Amino acid sequence: MENIDSVKNIIKNWKINKVILSNPVKKGDGLIFRSTIERVEIKGTDRFRISDFVDKKVLHRIEDCVNDIIIDKMCNNGFKNCDISGNINAVILKNKKDMFTVTGIKKGTDEYISKQHNREKNRIIKEGEKIGWMYELGLMSEDGHIIPNKAKKFKQINRFLEMTDDIEKYIPENAHILDMGCGKSYLTFAMYYYFNIIKRKNVTIKGLDLKKDVVEHCNKLAEKFGFDKLRFYCMDIADTKDDEKIDMMITLHACDTATDYALYHAIRHGCKVIMSVPCCQHELNKTIENDELDIIMKHGILKERFAALLTDAFRAEMLEIFGYKTDVMEFIDMEHTPKNLLIRAIQGNKKSSDENLEKLKALSKKYNVEPSIIKLFES
Ligand SMILES: C[S@@+](CC[C@H](N)C(=O)[O-])C[C@H]1O[C@@H](n2cnc3c(N)ncnc32)[C@H](O)[C@@H]1O
Repeated sequence: MENIDSVKNIIKNWKINKVILSNPVKKGDGLIFRSTIERVEIKGTDRFRISDFVDKKVLHRIEDCVNDIIIDKMCNNGFKNCDISGNINAVILKNKKDMFTVTGIKKGTDEYISKQHNREKNRIIKEGEKIGWMYELGLMSEDGHIIPNKAKKFKQINRFLEMTDDIEKYIPENAHILDMGCGKSYLTFAMYYYFNIIKRKNVTIKGLDLKKDVVEHCNKLAEKFGFDKLRFYCMDIADTKDDEKIDMMITLHACDTATDYALYHAIRHGCKVIMSVPCCQHELNKTIENDELDIIMKHGILKERFAALLTDAFRAEMLEIFGYKTDVMEFIDMEHTPKNLLIRAIQGNKKSSDENLEKLKALSKKYNVEPSIIKLFES
């Protein structure tokens, strides 16, 4: 147990990256029930963003130094729990007698700081300034901050844009882009913003989804913001006609085999660029068998993960077979979503390879699976 003075001393010397203060001493309307502190880089300088959660609002402010603020929040009847990460990671707990326990102490990392900074710096959509469509889609507050429960989605769309930025040169001016299974269309709007407002490439983007109400809402929003080359259609990916010119196809978490249909149509469209983050993969897990891999197959979770990896391997290989230079990359850290692979394919000059297709079919037999991505090309 530590008394107030010794805990103050401990906090004073902490090199802090992130803090979560919770379990307030006083609870009620208009009172802060949670507070977070995060190191951020602003105009090349390390600073801290403090977010105080009050009722349904989040109040943000930026400070240069936070050690005394944490001491104040912990020691002066503010919070009973304080989870700190920095050069040391630990949790400080306060009891009713104003005594403190410092628990879960682990060595932290300074590397984390620079990693975080670089990420912040590279973000294509930045926080701090209100962006109309982000606000209307419920991602951003009036003052341009990300709504806390949308932080994961914000990270996903930014990461998708960063990975698009790496291959942006392959997307021509006036290109046509198709987002299959666009859902609430955070990514679709973000791609439009990236290509037409940041890069000024005058692209046309179409979003497809099965949900009529969401499609209608997205069309209204596109109109409201004058995004005249952004339109949404209520349609099954499977019914896509392949007679249109499409330069790029994207999917973000299109459910199960919807990703296969999307890839199939993208290949048939002859898209120059395909970027697809698959979702859950159930298809292969239903039938997969292989005696040689019994040590995997006998554990449900390993079998499921192996089937998911095999699904994406079949997808990537089919793209290669059809002449695409294909990379399977980590999309986002596991802590944000387990659906963390991105298949990125760029059309190359190679001709389709029948021999490799036969090898792939043989592999599917070996594992007793019938991947949609192969079946679709046979039908
Ligand atoms: C998990 S959500 C992802 C939405 C969006 N891409 C995102 O990441 O926010 C999957 C979406 O795919 C749509 N979807 C699933 N199967 C589809 C199909 N066959 N045709 C069109 N949309 C489909 C669903 O309606 C849902 O909105």
